Amino acid sequence: MRYLTLNMPRVTVTRRLRFNAAHRVHNPSLSDAENLRLFGKCNNPNWHGHNYTLDVSVEGDVEAKTGYVCDLSHLKKIVEKEVIDIVDHKNFNLDVPFMKDVIPTSENIVIAFWTILAPKVKPGRLTRLVLWETENNYVEYTGQ
Ligand code: NI
Repeated sequence: MRYLTLNMPRVTVTRRLRFNAAHRVHNPSLSDAENLRLFGKCNNPNWHGHNYTLDVSVEGDVEAKTGYVCDLSHLKKIVEKEVIDIVDHKNFNLDVPFMKDVIPTSENIVIAFWTILAPKVKPGRLTRLVLWETENNYVEYTGQ
């Protein structure tokens, strides 16, 4: 089969996955008053939840045999097994081993996801994770 361009084309593919989880944004080394001042409603002692959306982007060569960078249903299975199944319907503060002693902001969650997923998507290369906490707020991480 021929490629559509002369050079080896590199393409980024993205799979979107969804999960929901509870958390409390709280720094135990600060006073309750300081936590409330910093985190407001997100510091609610009895937790609150979000419907999260995670976009996982992998870059790689387009394989001649398949025309794919990677099979997105295979990527979905990897992301489900490695992170979604561990966090979905769970409490980030209490139930998720890789978030132990970490303030469960979207920033810290996306870094933890990256650490887990980056070695698992080879030969593709993880280039970007986008984690939506609400329709209005998202964080983006490229491994820097
Ligand atoms: Ni929150």
